[in-house]
Amino acid sequence: MKSALITGITGQDGAYLARLLLDKGYKVHGLVARRSSDSRWRLREMGVEADIVYLDGDMADACSVQRAVIQSAPDEVYNLAAQSFVAASWNQPVTTGIVDGLGVTHLLEAIRQFSPHTRFYQASTSEMFGLIQAEQQDENTPFYPRSPYGVAKLYGHWITVNYRESFDLHASSGILFNHESPLRGIEFVTRKVTDAAARIKQGKQQELALGNIDAKRDWGFAGDYVEAMWLMLQQDKPDDFVVATGVTTTVREMCRIAFDHVGLNYRDYVKIDPAFFRPAEVEVLLGNPAKAQRVLGWKPKTDLDTLIRMMMDADMKRVAKE
Ligand code: NAP
Ligand code: GDD
Repeated sequence: MKSALITGITGQDGAYLARLLLDKGYKVHGLVARRSSDSRWRLREMGVEADIVYLDGDMADACSVQRAVIQSAPDEVYNLAAQSFVAASWNQPVTTGIVDGLGVTHLLEAIRQFSPHTRFYQASTSEMFGLIQAEQQDENTPFYPRSPYGVAKLYGHWITVNYRESFDLHASSGILFNHESPLRGIEFVTRKVTDAAARIKQGKQQELALGNIDAKRDWGFAGDYVEAMWLMLQQDKPDDFVVATGVTTTVREMCRIAFDHVGLNYRDYVKIDPAFFRPAEVEVLLGNPAKAQRVLGWKPKTDLDTLIRMMMDADMKRVAKE
């Protein structure tokens, strides 16, 4: 039985990846940071809460990261833990830098010293492209991050590349574009919109305040994207891969799809609130997943319309039960 360690297992991707690895017969360990309230709801939603070995730890605490690597003796480590909300990174730039940046070194160093055969996946991000330097971004596009989050993740990306080149570790970096699901955190724009549309439809909310609705994102489904993570660690050689759909859409159009699905016109409810604009915006992201398709045989299976409908259906049911 293969052993895997997932950091960030209580997050959206952690829950989908835990399900995927358990279905493949892995023993799954999860690094979980101490929280004062329940953080395992996504694992319950995925029906995997009881099947995971939980290890206490925090990415900012090198000792706990090291202990988790030694205790789980992993064949594969998936580093998904992060302060992942871009907007919050301007308010917590140092924490974001430690967890999303230096935390990666804690993990790589533990692997180098105690488990050098372990294969490593780093959750890198299209936010590293920021102020885009090419119309469609791929593995060769120069980076230009636009937030403390993007800057911290760029450090995490390059330290992964550096440990691969310096110590011959099987360390891969997945440069993933936005991916969503019914398990997405409520602060991210897709879930904020599907939750609000469901509440408005059911008379529990009157309007929805948003920021820059002209921003464009390349949105995919988290369930498809965790398969790409796993595939990267099954290759003979470690490498970097862009994972995206190759389609970009405005926040405005995403709102239209969500509200349409419940028979409402988003224009009647969406208000623009400057409080949700960012100090520096990433206006557009559009990925080119050709390498992932060629080398990994990976293709996205879920288009935006299907994804938003899936999220709307889940939120309509959840809001009705409240
Ligand atoms: P998410 O839902 O925000 O999950 C983040 C996870 O990290 C949670 O389990 C969280 O634990 C954990 N975490 C936060 N701080 C930690 C710390 N100091 N020590 C240990 N664990 C900590 O994020 P996601 O959407 O699943 O994304 C997974 C990863 O992919 C992240 O690294 C993100 O930056 C990256 N990424 C995401 C996307 C996307 O569109 N979703 C795209 C590209 C890259 P708690 O639940 O206890 O807070
Ligand atoms: N969250 C939010 N709330 N975003 C809004 C709002 C709002 O009210 N109004 C407009 N937006 C715009 C943001 O300005 C941004 O341009 C876009 O919607 C998407 O915002 P988020 O859903 O918060 O995601 P993100 O693109 O900033 O970051 C996500 O994707 C990255 C990959 O590109 C996160 O998952 C990151 O962790 C991930 O790395």
